[in-house]
Amino acid sequence: MKQNNWPLKQALEEFRNLKQMPLHMPGHKQGRSLQAEWLHILGQAAIFDYTEIPATDDLAQPIGPIKKSQELLAQLYGADQSFYLINGTSGGIMASMLAHLKAGDEVLLSRNSHRSISQGVILSGATPVYISPEFDEKHLLPLPLSTQAIEAKLQEHQNIRLCVLTSPCYYGLIGDLIEQVELLHKYDIPVLIDEAHGAHLNFSKNLGIGGLEAGADLVAQSPHKILSSFTQSSWLHIQGPRVDKERLKASLRMMQSTSASYILLLSLEAAMAQMYTDGPEKLNTMLDNVKRLRQNLVNNSFSLLNLNELNSNLVKAHDISKVYINTLEFGLKGYEAAELLRAKGIEPELSDYAGVLLMFTLADDRAFIEQVETKLLQFASEQKKKPRSQKTEPLSWADLQPEIILNPREAWFAGKEKVSFDQTENRIAGETITIYPPGVPIVLPGELISKEILTYLKQIKAQGGNIVCDDPTLNTLTICTTN
Ligand SMILES: Cc1ncc(COP(=O)(O)O)c(C=O)c1O
Repeated sequence: MKQNNWPLKQALEEFRNLKQMPLHMPGHKQGRSLQAEWLHILGQAAIFDYTEIPATDDLAQPIGPIKKSQELLAQLYGADQSFYLINGTSGGIMASMLAHLKAGDEVLLSRNSHRSISQGVILSGATPVYISPEFDEKHLLPLPLSTQAIEAKLQEHQNIRLCVLTSPCYYGLIGDLIEQVELLHKYDIPVLIDEAHGAHLNFSKNLGIGGLEAGADLVAQSPHKILSSFTQSSWLHIQGPRVDKERLKASLRMMQSTSASYILLLSLEAAMAQMYTDGPEKLNTMLDNVKRLRQNLVNNSFSLLNLNELNSNLVKAHDISKVYINTLEFGLKGYEAAELLRAKGIEPELSDYAGVLLMFTLADDRAFIEQVETKLLQFASEQKKKPRSQKTEPLSWADLQPEIILNPREAWFAGKEKVSFDQTENRIAGETITIYPPGVPIVLPGELISKEILTYLKQIKAQGGNIVCDDPTLNTLTICTTN
C-alpha cells in the first residue's frame, strides 16, 4: 500500500509557513522564551510544539489533520477505527476499561497483568476475576493463559463484561489468541488486548498473530516500544460491534491531557509513515540479523528463551526480537548479569531473577547487532572462567497468590496508614507494589500481605530489583486501616 501524504506533518508545516503571530499557547512560542542552553537541546522539537488551534486540529475531538492521520493508521492495521494516545498504552487501557466496565461488573484478566490494567480495575470499580498463569520452570517466566482456564472462569462467573489479555508478553510469548477471542465472543464478551509489545506484529510473517488479526475488539499498542514513535506515545485500534465507541471517546478524553503534545502526535504519524514505507523491510532485516545472533549465542553456550525449547502447548509463537538470556546458567542472577553487561557498555531492557532481556528494534542494523554479539561472547567467556559457587534458589512470584480481602477500588478509598515493613504480615495492602520492569503488581490494594510476599519483596530488593511503591526503601508499606 503506497501512501505519501502525511496529514499532520503537512498541516503543521503549512501553518508554520504562514508565519502567524502566535498569541496562543504554548508559552514558549516555538522556543522563543527558552534559555539558550535549553534551546540548544529542545530547539527543533520546540518549533513544532503547537497547540489545538483550527489549523492544527484537536486530539480530543479531531475533525482535520489528526482525524485524517488516524484514518490512515486504521487503514494500515485493518482496524475499524484507530486513536492516537498521548498517555501511553496505559492511558488507552484505562480508557478502554472505563468505557466497558462499571462498579459491580466482573473483568477477566491474568493476575500478572501490567499495572495499568489493575489501575483500570480501580478506576472502573469492577471486580477482578483473576487467572493465574502457569510458569515455565526453566526460565521462571509466566506463560500465556490456557483457553481451558479462561473457559472455566466463564462458566463460574456470569457477570464478566470484559476480558483483558496481554499478548505478546514482555518476553515476546504469544498464546492461542484466535481460539481465546472466539471463545470469549461466544459469551458476547468484548476482548481488550494489551499489545504494548506488539505494534510490529502486523508487518512480518515470522512473529505470530496480533490481536486485530485474532478478532479482538480493542487493541492497545506502544509503537514507542518497538517502532519509532517517541516515549509516551501509543495508539489504540478498535473493530466490531461490541465496542462502545461513544463511551470510549469520552473515556479517552478523561484519561488524557486536554493539551495533547504535537511532538508526540507528530512522532506517531512518523512511526506510521515508516510502516507504510520502508519500515517492514527494516523490521524483517533486523529479524534476520537477530536470528543469526541467536544462533551464534546458542552455539556458544548461551541459554535463550526459545519457542522450540519451551515445550508448552500454551505458546503458539515467540517474537524473536526479544532476546531473553537465562543467566542462571552462568551462575548469575539476572540482576547481577545486568550489572556486568552494563560495565561492558550493554544496557539491557530488563533484568529479573533468572536472566536479562535484550530488545532489538527497527533502529538496529547488522553492524550494531554484531557488536552486541561480540560483547556477549566476551561476557560468556569471562563467566565460564569463574567458579560457579552461587547456589541459586528459585524464587517464584507464582507461589505468592495473595488473598483478596477488599475490592481494589474499595481498598483504594479506604483509610490508610504507613506501617513498618516488618509489622505488615496479615494486613491488607493499601497500595500497589510493583517490580518495574516488567511492571507486574506483586500486591494490589485490598490484598492480604503474607509472610511469603514480605520475603519475596526483601529478596527482590536485595538482588537489586526496582520496586515501585509508596516507600521504595521498603521501610514502610501503606496499609488499609479497615482491619
Ligand atoms: C505489558 C505492558 N502493558 C502496558 C504497558 C504500558 O505501556 P505504556 O508505557 O505505553 O503506557 C507496558 C509498559 O511497560 C507493558 O509492558
